Amino acid sequence: MNDEDSFEAVQYIPVLKTDFIMKSTLSKELCDALIKLSEQKIETGIVDNLEGVRRTGWNLQKDSDVAPYLQMVTAKVEHCISTRLNYPHFHKNRPSSMRSNGMQFVIAMYNAWVGFYKGNSFVHPHCHEEPPNFYSIAAYLSTGSGDTSLSFMTDESPSHGVNRPKVICKQGDLVIFPSSLYHYTNDTSDERIVLSGNYYAGYMPQINIGER
Ligand SMILES: [Fe+2]
Repeated sequence: MNDEDSFEAVQYIPVLKTDFIMKSTLSKELCDALIKLSEQKIETGIVDNLEGVRRTGWNLQKDSDVAPYLQMVTAKVEHCISTRLNYPHFHKNRPSSMRSNGMQFVIAMYNAWVGFYKGNSFVHPHCHEEPPNFYSIAAYLSTGSGDTSLSFMTDESPSHGVNRPKVICKQGDLVIFPSSLYHYTNDTSDERIVLSGNYYAGYMPQINIGER
């Protein structure tokens, strides 16, 4: 399965002075494969902030069946973050300048889970700001009969006049956002299936610097 074709389909939604929500896409084949596998990994009794949702455990990235597919998701997330974002500081959007100063970009999926929603499901406002999370994702594997949405809460978008950006999501959409951003949805439907996950992403010194 080659999921690189849509790598360039990246949208940017400014929410903070120095950061973005990003939106890219996953192929339908990848979404369908993740749905099929996740249905077999449903667990009960997990304490979380979701109401009326069937879900997997937190650590699908450690499941040998699912991990290869999550690596495809991570490849896309890495592309979006490392090549387009003004990371790690404002105006530092040139990875080559980081490399020439002995730094390398690293990204690691810290955890991942899939939720199967119903029309009466509700996701309470929350954020994913726990170490080592830096970026979080919501990948819309299915949105049922129509679109759905993800609402963010921020008071730091002065130049855009919006403090509750609402991102409309359809099947295949991959939303990448800073883990510190509070978000919620009251816009669920039957057949809404979402992959959520957290990433560490950042620069670290090249460990082989100076070797010849
Ligand atoms: Fe979340």
